[in-house]
Formats: sequence, C-alpha cells, structure tokens
Amino acid sequence: MEFLASGRDSVVYAINDRRVLRCAEYDTTDVAQVMRYLRDQGYPVPAVYHAEGGDIEMERLHGPTLAEEVVSGRVSPAACVELIRELHSDLHRIEPPAWLAARSRGVDLTGGGADRVLHLDLHPENIMLTEGGPVVIDWTNAAAGDPDIDRAVTWAVFAGFDPTPLGPELAAGFDRMLDQLLDGLPQGALDTAHRYRQLDPTLEAAERHRLRTRFEQAGSAHG
Ligand SMILES: Nc1ncnc2c1ncn2[C@@H]1O[C@H](COP(=O)(O)OP(=O)(O)O)[C@@H](O)[C@H]1O
Ligand SMILES: [Mg+2]
Repeated sequence: MEFLASGRDSVVYAINDRRVLRCAEYDTTDVAQVMRYLRDQGYPVPAVYHAEGGDIEMERLHGPTLAEEVVSGRVSPAACVELIRELHSDLHRIEPPAWLAARSRGVDLTGGGADRVLHLDLHPENIMLTEGGPVVIDWTNAAAGDPDIDRAVTWAVFAGFDPTPLGPELAAGFDRMLDQLLDGLPQGALDTAHRYRQLDPTLEAAERHRLRTRFEQAGSAHG
C-alpha cells in the first residue's frame, strides 16, 4: 500500500484509486459507526467499507484540503469561514443516535441543552474539496451536544495556530478568520471549548499557550 498522508494520530494509505486505509493506534470502530450514520443522513462524509480495531477502510477522496486552498490563495479567508459555517449548520441539523455520548475527555458537552451531532475538530485540514463538493473527514472526536460548543472548538483550534510563517498577508487573513469565527459565540461555549481543547493530549506547549492567550483576550472583549 502506498503512503498517502499522516495526521497527528493516524496514517492514511492508498489501497487503490477509490479506497484508502486510515490506521490509528486507538480503536476507531465507533468513529466508523458515526461516519456511516451521518452518510445515511445525507451529510458529506466518505463511505466506510470496513472497520476493525484502529483501521477504517473508506472511500478515497480526490482534491485538496481547504487548508491547502487557503494557503495557496485559491480560497479567500472569508470563503473559508463561510464554508465552515455551512458545514457546521448542516451537521447541527442532525439529531444524534442514542449511542453517541454527550461527554468527552470528562467534559459535559450538553451546554445549552441542544442535542445535535458535533464534529469537534472541524478545521480546514479536515475538509477536502472534491469534484462533488466539500467532504468532512476525521470524525475521531464526534459527540452529541450543543452546536455552539462545536463552533467554539473550531475557533479554539484556529486560536492555537501560529500564522506568522505564512507571511503578513495570510497572517492578516487568519486574524480576520479568528474574529469571524468568534463572532456571536456565547462565553459559556467558549469556556467549554477552551477546557476541552486544553485536554487534548496531542496539543503542543506553544499551541496551548497561544490558545490560552487568545481565549483570555476573547473573554475580556466579551466583557
Ligand atoms: N478518505 C480520504 N481520502 C483521501 N485522503 C484522506 C482521506 N481521509 C484522510 N485523508 C488524508 O489523510 C490526512 C489525515 O487524515 P485524518 O483523518 O484527518 O487524520 P488525523 O486525525 O491524523 O488528522 C488528511 O489530512 C488527508 O490528507
Ligand atoms: Mg485530521
């Protein structure tokens, strides 16, 4: 099998032109179950063919990630935020199956009580732009809960990121995206998202620090 890509906690191999194998060190059969459920609901998720232990055999997507398109300038920061907004709101129309937990890393995700499917890692590297439209990958963190927390987690993922190596223009676009993602988020959802994100064991010290700083700034702006 040909190596295709690796993320923070998985390696993805190409089986052929139509299938990939995602290998993780933890059990992902529940992740595959969420993906199947969402695809049945009409949400854009790769088709799952087989899942066992940490391996998921699924549909191979062709196309760049949203992150690549923003960095290359083919997608503007405003269009990036708009696409994330649409993907979130479509997802948040879906009622969770009874078996999907509303608690993760010991954090209660019920927030305002709205009971919807949450991705909890929806950022531009987990959105692939295919000929058939955008498709969301990496459902490792999926849970049930309050949609505001999902949106706030996306803000928190961005808030850990350092855009300076991308150059001044992209860094300025990045700051605008952070502001737009933050717009309208209740403080309670931000608190929960910040706590949840800080509990992610794969987060590096520098990311934790940036996230905390931006979280405190956002809190003082909220008043
Ligand atoms: N179904 C797929 N088809 C093609 N490439 C994929 C697919 N799923 C994942 N990838 C590639 O593998 C990378 C890592 O996958 P992802 O599920 O996001 O794992 P991680 O948790 O490690 O980030 C993605 O950024 C993407 O480049
Ligand atoms: Mg990923």
